[in-house]
Amino acid sequence: TGLKEAYKDRFLIGAAINTAIASGKHPDITEIIKRDFSSVTSENDMKWGSVRTADGGWKWEAADHFMNFALQNNLHAVGHTLAWHSQIPQSVFKDRSGEYVKPAELIKKMEEHITTIVGRYKGKLQAWDAVNEAIGDDNQMRKSHYFNVLGEEFIDRTFHLAHEVDPKAHLMYNDYNIERPGKREACVEMLKRLKKRGVPVHGLGIQAHVAVDGPSIADIEQSILAFAELGLRVHFTELDVDVLPQVWNLPVAEISTRFEYRPERDPFKDGLTQEMNDKLSSRYEELFKLFIKHKDKIDRVTLWGVSDDASWLNGFPIRGRTAYPLLFDRKHQPKDAYQRVLAL
Ligand code: G3I
Repeated sequence: TGLKEAYKDRFLIGAAINTAIASGKHPDITEIIKRDFSSVTSENDMKWGSVRTADGGWKWEAADHFMNFALQNNLHAVGHTLAWHSQIPQSVFKDRSGEYVKPAELIKKMEEHITTIVGRYKGKLQAWDAVNEAIGDDNQMRKSHYFNVLGEEFIDRTFHLAHEVDPKAHLMYNDYNIERPGKREACVEMLKRLKKRGVPVHGLGIQAHVAVDGPSIADIEQSILAFAELGLRVHFTELDVDVLPQVWNLPVAEISTRFEYRPERDPFKDGLTQEMNDKLSSRYEELFKLFIKHKDKIDRVTLWGVSDDASWLNGFPIRGRTAYPLLFDRKHQPKDAYQRVLAL
């Protein structure tokens, strides 16, 4: 037995899956998912840019593969995402001359988009990361195209539309760095405004792209408490643990702008040192201890991928870098971190 069995009375344990996994191209990963995970999230295949063609039509193949994978393996399934400023064509927001479209036009496009995709998977997907990353790194509402055209109303509209189409779907607001003070408070304030306006938001997704040495367990715990206090279910939606930025001791944003990948600077290009592997395992253990402590508030903990070879962090914040953030290694074998999480 694996994680799925060990965590069945605590919370759902999930993994984001990519197009190849969802279409059954990695049978060994499929077996891992059947044994260890009770939930899956679509890593890319349900984003606007993935399901829409350039002329505004639809392409469903990859999204349907994801849905079928979840149904066949009896997995709780999370759709990702209905409104996000990234992986969406500019033409949704701007006309040919580069001017923003009128609010009514964007609303119409959102209506068509959300009604169609939520309707297609109604009763099959249990939850949606409805709105993703609406708060910026300055802790203000992000000045995305959505926001510039509609203001905060784009958030209200997204939740209302999804809820009307599939009243049983669990709808979440999802963001990163909200396990840290600053952005946490901004998020709490935004959620309060949404609740006051009667927006049907049911859950809060803390992405949790964390590092070996931060944010602190105390900070993460404060976020769990703050969001639960608003009456929302808490989800950890994109958990992974990075080892690299700490080595260079610089903030991620600075690394991504200042560094080209140079293998000689990457101490882990051929594998993790034992010391760093131990740190990674301990970090996973302390995180899951915290999650278990608050299992009454937490519905689900989802990792952003199954094995290190398929992690988005391999190209971020430095193109070409090698990343080790997940519970299974590049040969798809369980890591020490997996054993530690399993043993709790
Ligand atoms: O599918 C194309 C492929 O046809 C093409 O040949 C290839 C060449 O670049 O690109 C492929 O698309 C890539 C896609 O991942 C699938 O692999 C995109 O370039 C790449 O940008 C995209 O990255 C995804 C990223 O979101 C996009 O912003 C990552 O896989 C995905 O893990 C990441 O996930 C996000 C969440 O949605 C939101 N929270 C943060 C998280 C991590 O950035």
